[in-house]
Amino acid sequence: MCGIIGYVGGRPCYELIVRGLEHLEYRGYDSAGFALLDAERDRFSLVRSVGKLEDLRRASNGSAERLAGPTTGIGHTRWATHGRVTLENAHPHLSGDGEVAVVMNGIIENYVDLRHRLQDEGVVFASETDTEVLPHLIRKHYAGDLVAAVRAVLAQIEGHYAFVASHVSEPNRLVAVRHECPLVVGVGTEETFVASALPAFLGETRDVIYPDNDELVVVDADGVTVLDLSGEPVVREPSTWEGSEETAEKGGYDTFMLKEIHEQPAALWDTIGSRLGADGTVTLDGIGLEDPTLARVERVHIVACGTSFHAGLAGRYLIEDWARIPVSVEVASEYRYRTCLAGPGDLVIGITQSGETADTLAAMRVARERGAHVVALTNQTESQATRDADGVLLTRAGLEIGVAATKTHTAQIMALALLALKLGRMRWAITEAGARELAEELRRLPDAIEAYLESPAPAAVADVAAHFVERDFFLYLGRHVGVPVCYEGALKLKEISYVPTEAYPAGEMKHGPIALLDEGSPVVVVAPDGHVFDKVVSNIQEVRARGARVIAVATEGNGEIASHADHVLWAPRTPALLAPITTIVPLQLFAYEIAKGKGLNVDKPRNLAKTVTVE
Ligand code: F6R
Repeated sequence: MCGIIGYVGGRPCYELIVRGLEHLEYRGYDSAGFALLDAERDRFSLVRSVGKLEDLRRASNGSAERLAGPTTGIGHTRWATHGRVTLENAHPHLSGDGEVAVVMNGIIENYVDLRHRLQDEGVVFASETDTEVLPHLIRKHYAGDLVAAVRAVLAQIEGHYAFVASHVSEPNRLVAVRHECPLVVGVGTEETFVASALPAFLGETRDVIYPDNDELVVVDADGVTVLDLSGEPVVREPSTWEGSEETAEKGGYDTFMLKEIHEQPAALWDTIGSRLGADGTVTLDGIGLEDPTLARVERVHIVACGTSFHAGLAGRYLIEDWARIPVSVEVASEYRYRTCLAGPGDLVIGITQSGETADTLAAMRVARERGAHVVALTNQTESQATRDADGVLLTRAGLEIGVAATKTHTAQIMALALLALKLGRMRWAITEAGARELAEELRRLPDAIEAYLESPAPAAVADVAAHFVERDFFLYLGRHVGVPVCYEGALKLKEISYVPTEAYPAGEMKHGPIALLDEGSPVVVVAPDGHVFDKVVSNIQEVRARGARVIAVATEGNGEIASHADHVLWAPRTPALLAPITTIVPLQLFAYEIAKGKGLNVDKPRNLAKTVTVE
């Protein structure tokens, strides 16, 4: 959460910084700001605003002349943790005399204590943030050397953070450091960027350094030096980012979310890539385990948050059924504080599209300390998760900008399906013929979703959604693989339309949630073809008997469902266990249409951020 950027070079940096922040805005959009070092006036030009980057641009309008010159600066887009969303709490934060400016992503956990101590020494704070202790502490320790001052401060702070500091007396220098929060360095020609993530500078340079925890990145006019905590230089050569041009364009769609829903076929194709042979053989390079060891895995534990957790729940059915290995799936924020019983012989999969989610990283760490083999299932090659894990299973969904995850979710389930098939084959739980058939089905899936998205079906979803835009509550029900689809569909709706939802296994409905229903209550029922279809139909009857209006998600060609439901959202036909990949698509569209119907900004829902780097 929060995006930070810094620039030192030969070019005026206002536009570079604001444009960089625009590419980081998915990390937070409560407020934004920048401080450009005005060497002539020996001070920072500070502009901050509450709201999105367009507000920051507006706030800068009156100062165009003053902002045109500086070639060193830092910027920030905020997702509030400590302190309300106010101008005072927007970054950058300055020391009392205005000589030091800092932007930070993360949390300084001992900030209360530090703040009190500084206040006792007469420091006056201008904000409620934890970050503000940094410029005051750096100022206090500054004796002509910003690097030394930052090192002194690192010895006093606790938490997880990445920050960039600047001092007016060192006009062509920035000092940055990370501790459990992301920081990347972009090395250009006579210019250097530091940022939370690559999109901030990919339009300018693709040569990247990935500093480790607790390494000091010292950026000067003539380049970048990396130091360890004792001040010794560390050799870090830049590598060239080989990914596609990820400069976040909407490509003709109204929103990133809609674009990303439509990118799902490509995300699925690319995630399969050359990993899947026609005979069902799966090659997962990078997973970090030789096949014989993988075949002996005793238990699989999946840890994840939010939408990635739902992908894990869907993956459990695949691994248990195809490979006959017991799987537990747990929310990472809970797993990390439980007594961890994973150990050697267990495979722990941390699912995190961003590779940065603090709780997922912590859960993976706990399991690794216990000797389990930990794999990061992520969409980000150079993320913290890939560095923390023993092995990596990449989804290849491309950059996801919309805050509500869509294409990374279905790609995660596809990656788990590949793993399940591999495990199943190695353990002889799937026959050769069965593997061949499943391989065919997996390969068919992206085409089936593409055909669906190009058919009149999405427009039909919009028509159904139009009936429900004003509803203030939705219940989602499903059984078996329909359950994770309900959880995910309900999450999509609540996060982008702010409508309360409840998602339940349909068999549990009579144990409580049915009391919520009233005449006309909308109930979304995930009812793909499969062995529990008839049971789900019984649940539909039960809710209809209470006056509910049923929107069923069903398999194309099912001739029965229309007589049970008020509306049907069709999904492509697929084997039952793969239905979470197909049935979630109409529900993504349904949530999208409701939010659009309400006139909401689906790409930047309130209070949310794309990456959750604080616990
Ligand atoms: C919801 C959503 C979040 C994320 C969650 C985990 O649409 O995107 O629930 O799934 O914050 O994020 P990652 O996968 O980056 O660990």
